Amino acid sequence: MANLHSPNISRATPLHPRRIGIIVGASSGIGAALARQLANEGYTLALLARRKDLLESLCEQINRDSGEARACFYIHDVADYGKVPDLLRRIVSDLGGLDLFIYNAGVSRPAGFKKYDFEKDRATTEVNYLAALAWLNPVAEMFLNLKTGQIVGISSVAGERGRVGNPSYNASKAALTCYLEALRNRLTRFGVHVLTVKPGFVATDMLKGAKKTFLVATPEKVAADIARAIRRHRQEIYTPGIWRWIMLVVRNIPSVIFRRMTF
Ligand SMILES: NC(=O)c1ccc[n+]([C@@H]2O[C@H](COP(=O)([O-])OP(=O)(O)OC[C@H]3O[C@@H](n4cnc5c(N)ncnc54)[C@H](OP(=O)(O)O)[C@@H]3O)[C@@H](O)[C@H]2O)c1
Repeated sequence: MANLHSPNISRATPLHPRRIGIIVGASSGIGAALARQLANEGYTLALLARRKDLLESLCEQINRDSGEARACFYIHDVADYGKVPDLLRRIVSDLGGLDLFIYNAGVSRPAGFKKYDFEKDRATTEVNYLAALAWLNPVAEMFLNLKTGQIVGISSVAGERGRVGNPSYNASKAALTCYLEALRNRLTRFGVHVLTVKPGFVATDMLKGAKKTFLVATPEKVAADIARAIRRHRQEIYTPGIWRWIMLVVRNIPSVIFRRMTF
């Protein structure tokens, strides 16, 4: 059961229009930084994830800093696909509408170079891809009917090649990137914008213990890049921007060389 915590949330009214957003996967890292960034820009936000303590303190901080109730939270495990339609309806009703939907939830569960682990692969695929579909489909349908709205999917540069280190993570992000492109191609003609975000390495819980990282960005830098892309109605961004050029090179490394790289 989703658990709402939103005392006197500031709702949009005709006299006080405000942009309303949902962030799925907002309790830490990029999602939390994005929540702080968008709240600073005046958004009213519903923040979703499993860890109640983190969501609670994030909402308290946002509401204290902005001097009004701009953020509320709902406890939600994205693997509970069946709960999504009701929860979406409830949030839209609680907040008085929806302008922006961000799917950011993600996990990385590398099995090890020479190991194969279906349970880890399934968990990765469920959170990074299947649950994204469970949310993005009804949101797309809603925005299609409204003929307006913005959708953001946090994918990864990792979706651009299949590496030896984390195959199911690479595949889940490749699938998400492709799905978001198809969604954009469907929805652009109806006035709905879809943004695909491809971060490089970001200093979050997900990166803890990762080997061979470089050019590691802060979640705040990535959140600022995403917020700017939302304002500009961009279709796809790499963040930080240098990753566009790095991935241009990486995409063109011949397979005979790429398969020898142990990262
Ligand atoms: N860090 C990087 O280097 C990097 C690079 C490229 C892309 N990304 C992508 O950026 C996104 C955010 O990751 P991050 O780096 O900020 O890591 P993070 O701090 O671990 O954040 C992951 C978020 O996903 C949520 N989440 C995970 N499983 C969930 C579930 N079953 N139900 C609901 N929420 C769930 C987590 O919330 P709860 O645990 O509270 O549920 C958390 O809010 C991910 O999609 C990741 O793949 C990260």
